[in-house]
Amino acid sequence: MDAIELLTSQHRRLEGLMKDWMNGSEGRRQTLFKQVGDELTLHVTSEEQVFYPAVKEKRTEDILLESLEEHLSLKRVLADLIALDPADPTFEAKFHVLKEQAEHHHKEEEEHLFPKVKQLLEPMARNTLGEQMLALQQQLKREGDPREAVSEQTDQAAKLD
Ligand SMILES: [Fe+2]
Ligand SMILES: [Fe+2]
Repeated sequence: MDAIELLTSQHRRLEGLMKDWMNGSEGRRQTLFKQVGDELTLHVTSEEQVFYPAVKEKRTEDILLESLEEHLSLKRVLADLIALDPADPTFEAKFHVLKEQAEHHHKEEEEHLFPKVKQLLEPMARNTLGEQMLALQQQLKREGDPREAVSEQTDQAAKLD
């Protein structure tokens, strides 16, 4: 599957899950929060380990570095939420911040990064990257509770290589 199509469809899916959380009952929110945490972590991890290094070039480097800082910020908010009692009065406010930051980040990738990647990589190369990301996501899912990994990634942004 084309890497850009894969990542874009995951953006829409994450946004949908976060919207469902906002509108969900308490019981439903528990399940949805785990899903958001797991899917966001899988998405960001595959971008950091597969996609970003593969599309690193002079003309993409600045936006990739900024994206990695945005990932760091997302991971910090997510790690806070994982550690927080869902009944805490600040939980909803923090979740809202996660949602807004994710939406902003998705928009930046889609408007500034992906068009450049389309010029850089042929469809075949983009397909290979998509398959690699899916394989990594499936492997991390099999290992269980992918979201738990973010708590150890809040010190600094991932490196671009
Ligand atoms: Fe990203
Ligand atoms: Fe993304």
